[in-house]
Amino acid sequence: METTKLQNIAQALVARSKGILAADESDRTIKKRFDGIGVESTIDNRRSYREMLFTTPGIEAFLSGVILFDETFRQSSQAGIPFYKLLADKGILPGIKVDKGTVPLPDSPDETITAGLDGLSERLAEYYNLGAKFAKWRAVITIKDDKLPTLAALEANADIMAQYASFCQGAGVVPIVEPEVLLDGNHSLERCAAVSEATLAALFSKLQEHKVYLPGILLKTSMVLPGKEFGDKAAPEKIAAATLSCFRKVIPNDLPGIVFLSGGQGPVEATANLQAINSAGQGVPWQLSYSFARALQGEALEAWKGQAANLPRAQKIFYHRAQCVSAARDGQYSPAMENSL
Ligand code: 13P
Repeated sequence: METTKLQNIAQALVARSKGILAADESDRTIKKRFDGIGVESTIDNRRSYREMLFTTPGIEAFLSGVILFDETFRQSSQAGIPFYKLLADKGILPGIKVDKGTVPLPDSPDETITAGLDGLSERLAEYYNLGAKFAKWRAVITIKDDKLPTLAALEANADIMAQYASFCQGAGVVPIVEPEVLLDGNHSLERCAAVSEATLAALFSKLQEHKVYLPGILLKTSMVLPGKEFGDKAAPEKIAAATLSCFRKVIPNDLPGIVFLSGGQGPVEATANLQAINSAGQGVPWQLSYSFARALQGEALEAWKGQAANLPRAQKIFYHRAQCVSAARDGQYSPAMENSL
């Protein structure tokens, strides 16, 4: 295992002022997003949309990496440049989603485990040769009353993520491990904190058991938030305190960074919460950055609407959101920046 190389990549992904764009929506997920703007999910529309994002002038100031779906990894710009190369030429590290989605857990069918370990080392070798520097694997954790998640689901997902991480490091690719605690449900902030703590404790225990090299991985995780149907939203300061308190209890110091998913929060909400976390988290041993999909893309997707004529406006909006999120990652965001578009 080339530990120095892995460590350098992980650190580059969480460099100051930068974070990761998650643009790795599966066919099903991107169809859902396109349905929302009345655009058909064809191969070429997906290609054009991703090209709009990746060719946004100056976006490399805010993006250390982009996570791609397999189809996108094999697509090119209109000018014929493969997307992974177009990104690498801008100094943005190309990454790849390698999990194969979720399947129900046989003895707890309302919970899932993530598929994709079969053939993983061969796929990683191919992506590595094409220039992939990092990979992502998402596990889904559901909160339901005091019944879910089960310890069995947390441990099964943690074990699979540790195996995935081990395969990645063997292939020279930095693994991002993503146990997403879903926002769905009416649970309280405190319940989310307890579940997040148990999820991360199980994960780091399995990573250690499988001898994964922690300086050469990143954690992608949810912020600690009350459920979508809980009623009251929590203030950013409260979210920041709960999130950091959870991390301090269970995350080892030698992990280089934590990147947040947005999880269905609105773009301004996710930006304000990231700001509060960075502002309260000065002095923690990990970089606290972003790997948003919806919160970075949502406004630009709405502006684009599948029309080439909307491209400059969509890119401007995408640039502005990335600028705000980057400022939040540095603890430098203020709501007044929302007016600077
Ligand atoms: P959201 O930011 O839309 O939650 O997506 C992040 C992601 O990559 C989920 O796997």
